[in-house]
Amino acid sequence: MDTIKSKLQTGQSITVLTGAGISAESGVPTFRGSDGLWKNFRPEKLATLEAFQADPCLVWEWYDWRRKLIEPIEPNPAHYVLVDMENQTEQFTLITQNIDGLHHKAGSQNVLEIHGNIWKVQCTKCQCLSHNSEVPIQILPTCHQCGGLLRPKVVWFGETLPAKELAAAQLAATHCDLMFIIGTSGLVQPAASLGIAGKQAGAYVVEINVERTPLSNIADETRIGKASDVLIDLLS
Ligand code: APR
Repeated sequence: MDTIKSKLQTGQSITVLTGAGISAESGVPTFRGSDGLWKNFRPEKLATLEAFQADPCLVWEWYDWRRKLIEPIEPNPAHYVLVDMENQTEQFTLITQNIDGLHHKAGSQNVLEIHGNIWKVQCTKCQCLSHNSEVPIQILPTCHQCGGLLRPKVVWFGETLPAKELAAAQLAATHCDLMFIIGTSGLVQPAASLGIAGKQAGAYVVEINVERTPLSNIADETRIGKASDVLIDLLS
């Protein structure tokens, strides 16, 4: 039996880090692939606080377009295999860079959304947080409490990650027997460093991707293939 399968059977604690690649098979565009969002849109024009302050309508129109795209999308087998893995593991933490909410939709429980969630909004005036699933969303959306302008509760370039989620992610990365890194280009920090931290803390690190990435150099194994194909095979 290969190392991963034996560790899956005996592994007391598993930590998973996912990126846009795990949602690709559901139809959610990735960021840097050939059809990636950053090929058609400029992140500095849409995914920064400065861009939002300069043109909140443009930024909200882009997020409204992404919300319309994501709303009907269902999780794919890769998401569901991770639900099964969580149910079979004593200590399981799923860290995701994705803001699409598909891990929750699939039924994953212990999910750390370190880049936020496209269905959450925050008032720029009173800071109150709420869930907003309106599709389309009114542009510009305002706070029910104080009338302030709402922003998507997602982490933009140049912003810090939510401290609680990041601390929990770092703890989970450095206290696990087995770590999967699935569908991420490993180019964005501090998410990418979670894989390195896990390796340094002694986890057996398995990368699952359709191509090698900078994280392939630190992984104990890189399984090349679609996330759903590789995960189904590993859990079969
Ligand atoms: N199965 C596995 N991996 C896949 C699949 C698939 N079916 N399809 C694509 N991939 C891989 C690509 O090879 C790539 O390495 O998924 C990765 C997607 O990389 P990115 O598009 O860079 O997405 P991600 O790594 O999640 O980006 C991190 O950057 O723009 C910011 O905040 C944004 O959270 C995002 C962060």
